[in-house]
Amino acid sequence: MMNMISLENVEKVFIGKINVPVLHEINLFIKQGEMVALKGPSGSGKSTLMNIIGLLDRPTAGTVTLGNEVISLDMSDTKLAHLRSSKIGFVFQSFNLLPRLSALENVLVPAGYSPSKKNTSANRTRAEKLLTSVGLNHRLNHKPNELSGGEKQRVAIARALINNPELILADEPTGNLDSKSGAEVFDIFTDLKKEGKTIVIVTHDDHIAKSTQRIVNIRDGRIDE
Ligand SMILES: Nc1ncnc2c1ncn2[C@@H]1O[C@H](COP(=O)(O)OP(=O)(O)OP(=O)(O)O)[C@@H](O)[C@H]1O
Ligand SMILES: [Mg+2]
Repeated sequence: MMNMISLENVEKVFIGKINVPVLHEINLFIKQGEMVALKGPSGSGKSTLMNIIGLLDRPTAGTVTLGNEVISLDMSDTKLAHLRSSKIGFVFQSFNLLPRLSALENVLVPAGYSPSKKNTSANRTRAEKLLTSVGLNHRLNHKPNELSGGEKQRVAIARALINNPELILADEPTGNLDSKSGAEVFDIFTDLKKEGKTIVIVTHDDHIAKSTQRIVNIRDGRIDE
């Protein structure tokens, strides 16, 4: 299997009044179809690393390769945004749903939905299918504040899948959920792994970490596997 994610000698320094070095000599290779748990203490650099893998932030040095695409440091924001929306689905701890939109509309956002614009019915059908696959066919028109935490996270997962990404990045997706909802959400990721998706999950939950194929530990910005 080819590598879906290759990080070679990646460094990250946040530049400001004081420079904050956060990631050091990161070498990490994740194969296509792998499911990896990323663990480490608060402040160790997990989200920073996820943002670099997810092309939301750029490394200070080193090489990032996603599939066969080498991400050069001078790639334009437009090009990065295009790669991001075609290759990567994100799931966040705080769901990040748009409060005025229904579950269905939220799922359609990465496919270009906006309230002023008509959507293709193909997209709508796909969004409905995805919501059904996460057990929410009876909640299509609910707004986020009419959904439980677990339901919100399942909407967010459906949204992450609308563009059929190869790679799913989840930053503490069960962090705000009770253990039952957390287990349901984790089961969805397990199913996605079976479908061949590559998945990286930041988690503090040992039960979840142990159920993944591989655990990567990060400490003070360095990986010790
Ligand atoms: N934009 C920024 N500017 C300066 N420092 C930053 C910035 N973003 C993060 N940091 C610092 O980088 C370090 C790593 O942050 P990061 O968010 O990656 O940690 P984390 O492992 O995800 O922690 P948590 O488990 O609490 O989410 C922290 O010390 C943080 O203060
Ligand atoms: Mg974090």
